Amino acid sequence: MSSDFRAPKGVPEYFPPVSAGFLYVRDALAAPAQRSGYGYIELPVFEETALFERGVGESSDVVSKEMYTFTDRGDRSITLRPEGTAGVMRAVVEHGLHRGPLPVKLWYAGAFFRAERPQRGRYRQLQQVGLEAIGSTAPALDAEVIALANEGFASLGLRSYELQLTSLGCAQCRPIYRELLRAFLLTCDLDEATRLRAGLNPLRVLDDKREAVQRQLVTAPLPVDHLCADCTEHFASVCSTLDLLNVTWVANPRLVRGLDYYTRTAFEFTHRGLGAQSGIGGGGRYDGLMASLGGSDLSGIGFGLGVDRTLLAVEAEGINLPIAPTIDVVGIATSVLSQDALILIIQRLRHLGVRADIAYDSRSLKAGLKTANRLGARWAMILGDDELAEGLVAIKDLRTGEQVHHSNDAIERWAPSLQWRAQSS
Ligand code: HAM
Repeated sequence: MSSDFRAPKGVPEYFPPVSAGFLYVRDALAAPAQRSGYGYIELPVFEETALFERGVGESSDVVSKEMYTFTDRGDRSITLRPEGTAGVMRAVVEHGLHRGPLPVKLWYAGAFFRAERPQRGRYRQLQQVGLEAIGSTAPALDAEVIALANEGFASLGLRSYELQLTSLGCAQCRPIYRELLRAFLLTCDLDEATRLRAGLNPLRVLDDKREAVQRQLVTAPLPVDHLCADCTEHFASVCSTLDLLNVTWVANPRLVRGLDYYTRTAFEFTHRGLGAQSGIGGGGRYDGLMASLGGSDLSGIGFGLGVDRTLLAVEAEGINLPIAPTIDVVGIATSVLSQDALILIIQRLRHLGVRADIAYDSRSLKAGLKTANRLGARWAMILGDDELAEGLVAIKDLRTGEQVHHSNDAIERWAPSLQWRAQSS
């Protein structure tokens, strides 16, 4: 039977059993932030379009080509958020969070929207876990942010990924570098569209994947070679703190991020098993962003980690995540009289932390056991007239076939033996 409707193009959907892996990955990526002083921020999924135009930058592909923008009923231009940093900044300024202790440390998770050409790992609705630390320029904070992303990936058992790092310079040294690069690009043989991009944001041309362009860029000036003394010192300190924290990184002086707000530290995590869409996470420092949105001139640093792509990376490496089964035990009532007692016992088990379900429509023990197996339960709990009369339940281990009886009055005592434990399975 085919339904009349399909999900929108380019939107991944996660349902059991894969959705358990999705939640596991999302939580694992968020866990390092939660134990490092970052508080959760829940942001609107849509914002005023101008926030992204001004914050993310009109020369970026994300803003110029990929935004889902529409006019709402009040004639306002609204955009589905393509990323999280601009929204966090807007919220921090609007609610004066930066007037409290600094840095303001926030993390978020959720869906973002980019009208990209869909392919494996490139979606129009993508999921990120992100964080932002606002109001400190300490290079050790850059290292902390990068290390927390790395910890998230490592905690999943991922190994085939690489952390690429560079510095893009600041408001002092970057304009000088940009002019140098612009002058260099004028000497190259570029098509009209690329020349236009070079005029708008010459750094973006460094990122051009085309062979013919890359060949001409071999001798192009690079940002790291034109940093001012402050940026050089800042970058050196970020690198040495990462070494101190035992985070492996490689320098990529040609790294250009897709969003315009970055200054100084920029980084990307790429995975070798994902083909063209290899970026599993990225971020960096942004000096002028808050000021450009009308707030104080506070610097910040953060990252966005792709949950969809990280899940693909986990699959590519053949990692078995220690995911709890949906159900530990399935209750089977083999008589009409025992049904109410069974419902109550199952409810108590659930309250005691056991994952428990009921074989509702199974009219015989055989059908009930089949249901329990189909649901992937480890145990069946059987209650019939005999057990009811004696105040007992029968617990059948579905792996070994072994069956024991427990007293109805002592559920607290035996319930823990029905709980799934990551190590024991
Ligand atoms: P971004 O590099 O644009 O950065 O996105 C972060 C991550 O989101 C990427 O590395 C990738 O894993 C995932 N991602 C992006 N686009 C797609 C897509 N179309 N399909 C699937 N996954 C995707 C940002 O968004 C910045 N806000 C990160 C940041 C926070 N920088 C500073 N603070």
